Amino acid sequence: MSSLIITGGVPLSGEVKVQGSKNAALPLLAASLLIKGTTILEHCPDISDVACMLDILKAVGCTVLREEETIIIDAQILKQTSVSRKEAEKMRSSISLLGALLGRASQARIPLPGGCSIGKRPVDIHLAALRSLGAEIEEKEELYARLKKCESKEIRFPYPSVGAVQNVILASVVSEAVVVMKNCAREPEVEELCTFLNQAGANIQGGGTDTIIVYGVKELREIRYTIRSDRIAAGTFLAMAAATKGSVTIQGINPFELSAVTEVFAKIGCHVKLYTDAICLEAYKGIRGIPFLKTMPYPGFPTDMQSQVISTLICAKGNSVIRETVFENRFGAAIELQKIKADIRINKRDQLVVIHGRDKRCLCPAVLQAPDLRGGAALVIAALIVEGTSTIKHMEYVERGYENISGVIHTLGGICCRENEI
Ligand code: UD1
Repeated sequence: MSSLIITGGVPLSGEVKVQGSKNAALPLLAASLLIKGTTILEHCPDISDVACMLDILKAVGCTVLREEETIIIDAQILKQTSVSRKEAEKMRSSISLLGALLGRASQARIPLPGGCSIGKRPVDIHLAALRSLGAEIEEKEELYARLKKCESKEIRFPYPSVGAVQNVILASVVSEAVVVMKNCAREPEVEELCTFLNQAGANIQGGGTDTIIVYGVKELREIRYTIRSDRIAAGTFLAMAAATKGSVTIQGINPFELSAVTEVFAKIGCHVKLYTDAICLEAYKGIRGIPFLKTMPYPGFPTDMQSQVISTLICAKGNSVIRETVFENRFGAAIELQKIKADIRINKRDQLVVIHGRDKRCLCPAVLQAPDLRGGAALVIAALIVEGTSTIKHMEYVERGYENISGVIHTLGGICCRENEI
């Protein structure tokens, strides 16, 4: 267990370079299993979810080498096709190994991922889609799956699930089949998986749109690939500056992927400038509330930024209303923020949070428990606003997705100190 002790009340200002994307890196690491040779991934984030995925790859037989931001995976030899409960439990996205192992070895045994603090997160859409390709899947505590021959099919997803689309791509990319997918998730991380695989010799059309067609190929070749920057980490750093009336320049990010987020920051009164691969945000004049904002699949406002935006708005002028539409239990941070005397009302039935912006002097420091990865980041933002010293416990959730967040805070002139606890 680790904690972050933050002395808030200081505007955060400066320039940061963004880590590689967590949600892009994880499916690419799973996809490396499909390449019977070496995959070199550059700009890979140094976060615990990546470490966990690398442990799983090693356990199934890959040789893995990490040199700073570069990861080299040799998947020439696969020793086994099962993932142990201990490893899978640490990370929900171990489910992407289901498609990858079926694609590589025609079989897989993976513990059924349980729910998590943000929602039940079933895998029914993944399983139905894989079954329609011809997979036989037995669901007990573990998933026992076989896919002797991937069949050509048209699949219409009932919901644009990011993970389910990625799983179908992974299961079908090396096959004799043609798979047409409709109502696909359009998240940049789906597009990135397609780009990565295409550069390795795949033939996938339409990544990043709602219709993706996989024309199966015989095999994939070795590849060196640079992972794009993490749009949610970038959005979180923008939120830190907006919340503390500071200014930040984020380097190495494609602003187009963050349009829905930068639009919101502009609406609440921040001065936002977009460059080819950078975003500048200034919030010296303070911010105002947003009458209504709802989370949506891409290109809508990302659920992964919902908690951070709630924290940003606790001292805004006026009221804000936020609706969560993607996950059914994602208000853990909002509940926790009541401990610092933020004026937040939560209506779970309608998935709504109402924030009455307060003067900063009405808030008080507190000991807060990170409820999940993004919720923990939101508490960090809130503690940066509050004058006095707050403690965020369970930073291990945050470290699943953020590389050296205390280092970023220091770079921006914030005051914090990380502590390990037993
Ligand atoms: C990915 C991201 C996560 C992000 C989410 C939505 C990774 C590693 N994680 O998660 O950070 O918050 O997209 O943008 O990329 N659902 C079902 N049945 C299924 C699959 C999903 O009901 O079989 C539901 C989920 O419970 C959730 C919604 O669909 O309510 C969206 O889930 P999905 O798009 O699959 O998210 P993930 O791929 O798990």
